[in-house]
This record gives sequence, C-alpha cells and structure tokens, in this order.
Amino acid sequence: MSLTKFIRDAQSKFEAIPAPCAIFYDAIVVKILRKPEKKIINDIVEKIGSGAILDLGSGTGYLSIGIAKRVPGLQVYGIDLSRQMVKIARRHAKGIENAQFVFGNAADLPFESDSIDFIVSTGSLHHWKKPVKVFDECYRVLRNGKEAWIYDPCPDALKDDIDKAKKEYGVLGRRFLIKITQLHGFSKEEYENKIKGILDQTTFKDSYQMELTDIWMKITLKK
Ligand SMILES: C[S@@+](CC[C@H](N)C(=O)[O-])C[C@H]1O[C@@H](n2cnc3c(N)ncnc32)[C@H](O)[C@@H]1O
Repeated sequence: MSLTKFIRDAQSKFEAIPAPCAIFYDAIVVKILRKPEKKIINDIVEKIGSGAILDLGSGTGYLSIGIAKRVPGLQVYGIDLSRQMVKIARRHAKGIENAQFVFGNAADLPFESDSIDFIVSTGSLHHWKKPVKVFDECYRVLRNGKEAWIYDPCPDALKDDIDKAKKEYGVLGRRFLIKITQLHGFSKEEYENKIKGILDQTTFKDSYQMELTDIWMKITLKK
C-alpha cells in the first residue's frame, strides 16, 4: 500500500478533526492555505455585502473571520464538528462581533429554513460522512436564488495550468501543494464520478457546476 493511500485511508476514518490535529492545523496548515483562501475571501466580498453567511467545516476560523472583518454588514456563522476547532476559532474571533462559531454537524444545520444568503466551505467536503444530507441541508437553509460555493482540494487544479501555478506558488511550492491536495481531497476523476454521483442524488441535482480553480475543485450550487 502506498503512503498516500495509507494516509488517505487513515483520514477517512475521522469526520471531525481530532483535538491534537486541530492544534497542528492552526499552527501549520492554516499558513499554507492562507494565500489560496485569501482569493476566496476576495471573491466572496465582491459578491455579497449584507446578510448571513455560513461557513461549513470552518476549522480554526480563518476564512470566516477574514470575511467578517472585510464586510461588517455581514453576519458570518462558522460550524464545525470538532470542539477543539470551534474553541480555537472563538479565540481568534474575540472582538469581532459579526463572526460566530458553533459546534455542530453540517448534515444537520442548526439554522432556520430560507435564512442564509450565502454558504461557503473550504477543505471539508472530503471529510463528510453524509454528503447527500449536507447538500440537502444547504438547499434547505439557503434563501431562493442564493448560492453555495464548496471548495475541496484537487491536485489536478495545480496540473491544469502549470505556468500559472508555478508563478503563484513557485516550483517547490506547487509540488508541495500537489502532495497536500493528493492527501486531503480527491482527484479530478473522483470529483467527476464519485462526487457528481452524490450531487445527482441531492436537491441541487439540476443546478450545480464544477470547475477547477487554483488548488481546488469548486462546486457552485444554486437554489
Ligand atoms: C481540513 S479542515 C478545513 C478547515 C477550514 N475550512 C479551512 O479551510 O482552514 C476540515 C474541517 O471540517 C470539519 N468537518 C468535517 N466534517 C464535518 C461536518 N459533517 N460538519 C461540520 N464540520 C465538519 C472538520 O472538523 C475540520 O475542522
């Protein structure tokens, strides 16, 4: 068995990130993701100026807090299944009134139907044990006409436009990110087969799109 397969299999056993990994995540992984996530923050800030945003699998809160700081008119909710991740995110969010973190499962969202104006998620989809349920919950809580942008790591995104990826992250940085995305995400083929098969069982079955971008497979869902 290859090391990559061993690590991916070990990871698939956990849905919530265990407490020691959350501390490691906050110290190291967040720094690696800072650049790609900053671009997502910019895109969201351009798209939405008021209302409620939900961040599924918000981890230590970097993305939610980044959005909340840039747009005070937004109320950002992060939800995560790891108590340690929620604890760290709340610590980072001290003094930021419009960012709130709750412990919970994205497959059973503690929000009213038709109450959310935008949903984002980064690097969480590959952990979900009940993805159909999560997508259906997104549909339930979103207001009509609103979107969810679900980003999950994909190594093929960094192979798609090699020159652009090298310019963005450097030669070694690109190689490192390919390895990370192989371990924490799916290949383009897996998204186009396995994840597409899952989406086709959800209420979004006629209204989703997939595209490779930066280090991610981005899935856009529209209610
Ligand atoms: C790799 S981390 C990504 C964290 C953050 N979004 C980021 O980009 O830094 C994935 C997170 O998803 C959370 N998670 C996994 N399954 C979940 C679920 N069903 N509901 C809520 N959170 C979940 C994990 O606990 C973990 O914190």
